[in-house]
Amino acid sequence: MAKEIKTIGVLTSGGDAPGMNAAIRAVVRKAIANGVKVKGIKKGYQGLLNEEIVDLERWSVSDIIQRGGTILGTARCSEFRTDEGQNKGVEICRRHGIDGLIVIGGDGSYRGAQALSKKGINTIGIPGTIDLDITCTEYTIGFDTAINTAMDAIDKVRDTSSSHERCSIIEVMGRNAGYIALWCGVANGAEDILLPEKYDYNEQTIINNIINNRKRGKTHHIIINAEGIGHSTSMARRIEAATGIETRATILGYMQRGGNPTCKDRFYASIMGAYAADILCAGKTNRVVGYQHGEFQDFDIEEALAMEKSISEYQYEVSKALSM
Ligand code: ADP
Ligand code: F6P
Repeated sequence: MAKEIKTIGVLTSGGDAPGMNAAIRAVVRKAIANGVKVKGIKKGYQGLLNEEIVDLERWSVSDIIQRGGTILGTARCSEFRTDEGQNKGVEICRRHGIDGLIVIGGDGSYRGAQALSKKGINTIGIPGTIDLDITCTEYTIGFDTAINTAMDAIDKVRDTSSSHERCSIIEVMGRNAGYIALWCGVANGAEDILLPEKYDYNEQTIINNIINNRKRGKTHHIIINAEGIGHSTSMARRIEAATGIETRATILGYMQRGGNPTCKDRFYASIMGAYAADILCAGKTNRVVGYQHGEFQDFDIEEALAMEKSISEYQYEVSKALSM
């Protein structure tokens, strides 16, 4: 029989993402509506180990749905990767009467959640990362805001790039995944899109492309480079030397993680937060929430972590065809 859940905890972990606040708000309000108490754990697993735990009421999450970042704070915590760290986490949850935990974060955070669940604390994961690199879900909280922020910034770089007839390499985040680069590359009409999943390190092809485009009269050449490839500054130097065309690198960096969440991020975060609260209150454990084929669903963490995600071949082909 599923264990009775009286109190749950919620934490945000790994890189923050716009929409995490909307998810926290939904978790708190739906759990309270289900008759369950909620505690907020500050600064991810690090805050759990430091016992930075506060009671959350309905009003504690007022006026946050529109804000970027996470009101709970977040951290990366190496101690939680160890058995000792995880045992300490379990003991602290028990001491604070936390029967179940909702972890909002990426796949690293899911591994922590999985460890807690194996040790008897019911856990549910919610996909919160701008990288979109969680396989069991077509949507991760923060991705939509991040690509819109990056898209606006790339438009601005394009203006000045055209005026100066330069080539611009713009590096976007995504860790080892190329989703932000692919989406922005298509949405910004980039001439080249470099994805870690597809890159063959043949720079000569890019150089030829730049020279041919210039001959055809193009005044700018935008290359969207994914963080997983990186080295944009040295690449710019080499391209300038080979083409004779002024080339600049812009690394967009952390601006992509901040800002008010888009409507889409607020909506998905709200539904996923409520869904996670419902299944945790119902006694489910070791599950992650996802969105697939138009439906919000939950998956076993082991299965979710074992799934392999790849860039769609068709989307990649289209991105190349449109950039010609
Ligand atoms: P994300 O959740 O965005 O993928 P990280 O990979 O940095 O970010 O993971 C966030 C945190 O999750 C780590 O700092 C660590 O505390 C915890 N974590 C990551 N991997 C593991 C693991 N294998 N076992 C236990 N905890 C982990
Ligand atoms: O996972 C989100 C992300 O912003 C990645 O795109 C990036 O590689 C990483 O986090 C940066 O992490 P940190 O904040 O530790 O520098």
